[in-house]
Amino acid sequence: MKEVIKIEGGHRLNGKVTIGGAKNATVALIPAAILADQSVVDIFGVPDISDVESLVELLEALNVKVTKNGEDHFVFDTTNMENRDLDIDAVTRLRASYYFMGALLGKYGYVKMVMPGGCYLGPRPFDLHLKGFEALGATYVYDQGYYTIKADKLVGAKIFLDFASVGATINIMLAAVLAEGRTVIENAAKEPEIIDVANFLTKMGANIRGAGTNVITIEGVERLEGKPHDIIPDRIEAGTYIIMAAAMADDVTIENIIPHHLESLTSKLIEMGVNMEIGIDSIRVLRSDDLKSVDITTQVYPGFATDLQQPMTTLLTKAEGFSSVRETIYTERFKHCIELQRMGAKINVATAQAVIQGNGPLFGNKVVATDLRCGAALVVAGLMADGETEIQDVYHIDRGYDDIDNKLIALGAKIRREFVE
Ligand code: EPU
Repeated sequence: MKEVIKIEGGHRLNGKVTIGGAKNATVALIPAAILADQSVVDIFGVPDISDVESLVELLEALNVKVTKNGEDHFVFDTTNMENRDLDIDAVTRLRASYYFMGALLGKYGYVKMVMPGGCYLGPRPFDLHLKGFEALGATYVYDQGYYTIKADKLVGAKIFLDFASVGATINIMLAAVLAEGRTVIENAAKEPEIIDVANFLTKMGANIRGAGTNVITIEGVERLEGKPHDIIPDRIEAGTYIIMAAAMADDVTIENIIPHHLESLTSKLIEMGVNMEIGIDSIRVLRSDDLKSVDITTQVYPGFATDLQQPMTTLLTKAEGFSSVRETIYTERFKHCIELQRMGAKINVATAQAVIQGNGPLFGNKVVATDLRCGAALVVAGLMADGETEIQDVYHIDRGYDDIDNKLIALGAKIRREFVE
């Protein structure tokens, strides 16, 4: 038996939806919490997603006491924490388990773990993380599926990233906060999630300047202690609901967001003719007919987010004329296009690019969520399509979308889960 999501398409959406804490900040904040020396960390706004369950398993494997206090408040107590080899399945369920590399290396000078997993989006090397650790004085070996990274002492260094990688920037920060002396990360990534992690580490006692710019300077400190932290809202979850609303709203308000984090999306939607009112911490989307085609190129923040490229592709099937979507981050991130074709979308995929012929109605079909944001693209498609869509491999969607069924039902969507043979 496998779990599927079934959506009866064509129903207009109305009402309000509240966005949760940012997945891609959360999955770094939880590993960052282990840097607290024998103390308690409170994190608020933790989304109810399976990636969090996997990270909690990893914390428990390290003997960190985890308590859930209410819906989105987690307490992590590192008093009896021990550095153990991370070889449980949870490591392979998500990419971000690699943040335990930086955090454990920073705290103990030693980490051994199996290869992290995560969505397949084409090759996803983490050579820049490892180069960063080496620059701080660590050595690593990869043997029989295990990474072992160690250092007698980590010493601050100047590190230039060949690519402004989110993961490498955060991982190096995690390793460097307790290193001796100054670390400078040049060509650092600027995503809001990096600022959130830096803010959290700073509250714990770290000395970090420049997060959110392309040069981050970290002066190593001797000790970090647990402090409370509120996670920023998830700009990708928000963007997904904004796209759904652009496709199907009569009147939908997306609340608990930072509109500034979404400007690359909202500017494209305005260009398409989406009827939106942008507030201080919310966006209202009104019924938008006669959408126009646009061209999109994914880029590092503040450019158009690759994570929204997939749901956006679905919306573009509704626009008048030809749109193009070009990927510069993950050139193979186009599996959703094959699934959308099964629903009648007219899309030509070439190297690192898709051309979408709009104005073609979608019809319901059986499709597969091949990765998290492909799943989101298919939910958007299911809402738009004539008839019923059945989405398989929904565990990908549950990795990153907090309570998606109930949030959509509250907006008037006809969506349900079933177990099928
Ligand atoms: N890259 C390298 N070497 C490295 C690291 C990255 O070549 O050592 C390349 C990657 O192959 C890719 C590019 O650099 O082509 C960008 O990768 P980045 O390291 O920035 O991505 P990431 O940290 O692995 C995070 C998000 C992704 C999001 C990307 C880009 C998390 C846990 N994941 O991944 O989110 O797509 O940044 O913004 O923060 C998602 O949420 O669905 C998701 C995949």
